[in-house]
This record gives sequence, structure tokens and C-alpha cells, in this order.
Amino acid sequence: MEFLDLPPMLGARGRVRLPGSKSISNRSLLLAALAEGETDIRDLLASDDVERMLDALRALGVQWEREGDTDNYRVRGVGGPFPVKSADLFLGNAGTAFRPLTAALALSGGEYMLSGVARMHERPIGDLVDALRQAGADIEYTGNEGYPPLHIRPAAIRPGGVLKVRGDVSSQFLTALLMALPLTGVETSIEVVGELISKPYIAITLDLMARFGVVVEREGWQRFTVPGGVRYRSPGTLFVEGDASSASYFLAAGAIGGGPVRVEGVGRNSIQGDVRFADALAQLGASIELGDNWIEASAPEGGRLKAFDLDLNHIPDAAMTLAVAAVFADGPCVLRNIASWRVKETDRIAAMATELRKVGAEVEEGADYLKVVPPQSLRPAAIDTYDDHRVAMCFSLVSLGGCRVRINDPKCVNKTFPTYFQVFGEVAAPVPVVAIDGPSASGKGTVGARVAEALGWHHLDSGSLYRIVALAALRAGVDLGDEERVAAIAAALPARFEQERVWLEGEDVTDVIRSETCSSGASKVAVLPAVRAALLDRQRDYRAGPGLVAEGRDMGSVVFADASVKIFLTASVEARAERRYKQLIDKGLPANMESLMQDLRERDARDAARAVAPLQKLPDAALLDTTSMDAEQAVAFVLDRVRERGLAGR
Ligand code: DC
Repeated sequence: MEFLDLPPMLGARGRVRLPGSKSISNRSLLLAALAEGETDIRDLLASDDVERMLDALRALGVQWEREGDTDNYRVRGVGGPFPVKSADLFLGNAGTAFRPLTAALALSGGEYMLSGVARMHERPIGDLVDALRQAGADIEYTGNEGYPPLHIRPAAIRPGGVLKVRGDVSSQFLTALLMALPLTGVETSIEVVGELISKPYIAITLDLMARFGVVVEREGWQRFTVPGGVRYRSPGTLFVEGDASSASYFLAAGAIGGGPVRVEGVGRNSIQGDVRFADALAQLGASIELGDNWIEASAPEGGRLKAFDLDLNHIPDAAMTLAVAAVFADGPCVLRNIASWRVKETDRIAAMATELRKVGAEVEEGADYLKVVPPQSLRPAAIDTYDDHRVAMCFSLVSLGGCRVRINDPKCVNKTFPTYFQVFGEVAAPVPVVAIDGPSASGKGTVGARVAEALGWHHLDSGSLYRIVALAALRAGVDLGDEERVAAIAAALPARFEQERVWLEGEDVTDVIRSETCSSGASKVAVLPAVRAALLDRQRDYRAGPGLVAEGRDMGSVVFADASVKIFLTASVEARAERRYKQLIDKGLPANMESLMQDLRERDARDAARAVAPLQKLPDAALLDTTSMDAEQAVAFVLDRVRERGLAGR
């Protein structure tokens, strides 16, 4: 399974230019297609759901062109029902394409098949079909009653009068009817049965229809009248606002990760209901600023978000972002009136509950609510995303709690925001890592410890982990080549590091692990892939703010491949042998230069030749040859690299 590992983040700040709104993009495309005249649509969202609509329109005889590589499209409207009278359309999992096209095609007098991915066939559409049947439409369910796929046949449409539609499952049914009814040319009213959910999305529909010349009369949110004898006319040029739902992740990032984070493309004049997400964040204590075309969020004064209990019916999509924000709150949080989550890309209530529990939250799931009790501390987890772009995007925020998080199947964000993780990476600052590697006795231990001390960062001497594993295995009488048993020891290693001392089950083993037995034992267990795998998470747990200095073989290539600074520390064999010689003599131990040099040469050759994590200078590592340097100079060199990158003192 493909995944993306997000490192723990120190915080978030910066600016984001939002991709176009999905809701506005797909509505605008359909209206432009049905309208008289050409429409230039600027800043259209580039994503899977919009592709599905574009493909469908082309198949239905609507001509459109993209302007070069831009997000600007010109749509030649057909001025009425679709000219192609027979088509088989595949609409993926794009609800914003499926529902409105169903209504428009049912009133177009042709024969059409509409289908999508498996999940689309589990998402209800019966309320819309019932309403269209009242107008005489001939629609058949080819799979399960009430669900896509659909087979539409030409029918005698009886326009006018009053159509009833349920409004409490999806507001897209009402949107679909509203947009399609002008095709009949006869005044028709729609009465909403039950409480209309997600009202702001209806407001987007009405706003866009008005721009295309059809003004709907509205009585509250209960009754809508589409006038007769009107046709859609192109407004000429139409600018697609930035996506307010996509904005929610970045605004939350600012509120959780310090900020300020500014999103550009939506603002106080937006027609999208999801801009109200900013109000919700403000109720959590975040500081929010609004401009005409931007919104900015920063963390609350005290730093911590406030617990909340909110009715989120008006912002169902952005509300998912609040479910993750809840793990950062100062108390239990309740998200209410979100039943529509159950019929979205996945059952979002169940999905969010399951995944929030993985990061340590206590979650109570109801038919139409979620209660989230924030954990004492977040747990690293692998998040499943259920082919739901919003699950993937909102869980990226967990990383802002200084907790690494794995996002499975990250490509699902293509539905609405293909570049999401890149853009998130532009505002979120990872906990910096300095990775130091080099041959035996190159002084990486000394340099690493001193750099960590100078910066006030955490320090990981990964070699000592392998040494402790070897020691523990030897003491347990386990053969050092027995991969499975040594890996089991590595996975459960009861080791502790305290200042400069190393403890194994309550015993100070700092000196023991430096013995020749442990050195050669470490080099044996270090070539076992299962042992390396067992130590991976443990090593990654050392990455915490304000930063980490990690030394050892695969620090810069595997464990912290995204390390901000990579150093390959080396020195001539003579220089290294001399340093070792002095150490031994100082300890009153016997030493011989010739045999030390011979030993190092052999070790270098073995280290470079081994198949697993061989010793090598990575292309992106800075070479630090300390043959004629003292430790102080070497430390200064590393600190310079850290400062050059602006990483010290953040
Ligand atoms: O750096 P050191 O001498 O303490 O390392 C002990 C052994 O463990 C040595 O053979 C290299 C190996 N090692 C490794 O394979 N990967 C690491 N990250 C660190 C050490």
C-alpha cells in the first residue's frame, strides 16, 4: 500500500494560494454548458471530480477548450438540453457531477446510462429520482433500488406545478433540480420535504444561477420557484473562487501550529458557506482576520484551542477539519448534526471515529454526532483514508502536534486537491534533523553530542541502540545471526538514555556497550533487516522539537531521509587510528598504531561492502574531513550548516 509519512512539525505559518472551489467549478461548468453563448471560466479547479464533469460534458456534445496550460476554460454553451441524445457516462465518485447531470439529462429527452465507482453506487439518489419522476422523467435503477447506476430514457416531461424533494439526506438533490428546471421553460416550484441540510450549498447554486440569468424565487428554505420562459445566458467571464473547504486545513494549521497562515482566494465576500469555518475556529479561540479575498488564522493567545460543542450542519465538509482540531483542544468536543457524513465519499462518522482513536483520542460515535476527547499525548499512527480526500487532508494536521503520522493512499486527495501535501509542506515546518554519518572512529559521536548540546536539541546515537541489542541478545544466549529472535529483542528493548548514560533494565551499560564484544556484536546484528526494521520507529520517536541530532549509518538515507542537514564526517585512517590510540592510552590500556590502522581499514571495507545500509556518503550530504581539524572546528562546521538553513533558535 502506498503511503506518505509526515514528520512531526514544529508549527505552521505562511501563505497559500487556494485551488478553485469544487462546488463552484462543477456548477459553473454545467450552467455554462446549458447556457446560450460562450463562457470563460477562470481558475477552474484541476481535480478528478472536475475532470469527470468535463469528460461528461464533452460526451454530451458540449465543446470546451482549455487555454494552454492554465486553469482557464472556454465553454461553448448549447443553449438548452444536451445535443447528444445517447451516452454512457462514468462519473467516478463525483457527487457534484452525478446528481446535477442526472437531473439535467432526465429533462433532456435522450437515453443515458450514468454510473460511477463502487462507492458512488452506495450513495443514495432516490430522493432526486422521486422528484424527477413527478415531472414525468423515466429513470430506472439498474442496480439497487434508490442508488446508481441509472438508466434514463426519453419521456414526456410534464413541467410546471410543484415538485416535492426531500432535503434531509443531501442538499445536492435540490441543487440538481434547481439547475435543471430552466430546461423545461415552464415555471415550476420545488417544495422541500423535511429540514433542508447544508443550506449554504443551495445559496451557492442560487447565486450562480442568477449570474447565468435565472433568478429563483425563494420562500425561506422550504419553497423555491424557478421562473418560466427563461434561459441560461453566459455571463461572459466567471472567476472561480478558491475552495473554502480546502481552506479549512490551512486555517486550522494556523490555529494549531502558531500561524499566521493566510489563505488567498476566499474572503469575507465569498459565496461559499464553508468560509464560516473561520467563525467556528474563532469560537475555538483562534485569532482570525478576514480580507476581501483572504482569511488568516493564528493560534489562540494561550496557545491551546478551546473545547467546543457546535452544530455544524451548515459546514459539513469543513467540519471534518474540526474533528481533528478537537484533539488539540483543552477538553472534550462535540460535533453535532452531521448525519450527512454517513453518505459521503465514505461513512465519514465511522471513518473519523476509527482514525481519531488511532492517534489516541477517545471517541463516541452517534447517528449524527461525534464526541472527541483529546488524548494526553498524540500517538503516531497509520491513517487509513477510505478513498476520501478529506480524511487524508484533515489528518495531516496531526503532525502539527509534534507527532509523526502516516497517511495511507495519499493520492485520494486528487479528488479535489492534487497538490495538497506539497502545499501543506510549504506552510508546515518539520522538526529539523541533523543526520551525521561516517566511518568508525571518525568522531561522529563526539561531534554529534556537542552539536546537540550547543543547539539544545535532542541527540540520538543510533549505534548504541545496535550495541545494546547485541548485548541483550548475548546475555539472553541468543545467536547473533538468529534474525527473528534478535529482532524480537530489538522490538522490546528495555533501554533508556539519560544524559550521557545508557541503561539496560536498570543497569548502567554505558561502558559495557563500548567493549570490543559489543562492537563486533553490533556490526553483526546491524546487517539483519528485521532488526533494522524493529528499531525504525524507536529511532523516529527521538525526533521532537526543537530538533534532533542523529548519528549513525542510515540516519540520512532511511530513518530521517528528509533531514535538513546531512553530514558525512570522515578522517584519514592515520588520524582516526591516532585518536583511538590516545583514548586507549589515556585509559591506561595497551595500544598499537599498526594494528589499530589495520583494524580500521578492515572495518571500513566491511562497512562499505555490506549489502544492508552500507557506509556511503549521500549525494546531499556535506563532506566534513576532520583529518586536520579538532572537534571544536568540526562542531563549528556543522553549526554553520544548521544556521545557514535558518534552523537554529526557532
Ligand atoms: O556507530 P557505532 O560504532 O556505535 O555503531 C555500531 C555498529 O552498528 C556499527 O557496526 C555500525 C552499526 N550501525 C548501523 O548499522 N546503523 C546505525 N544507524 C548505527 C550503527
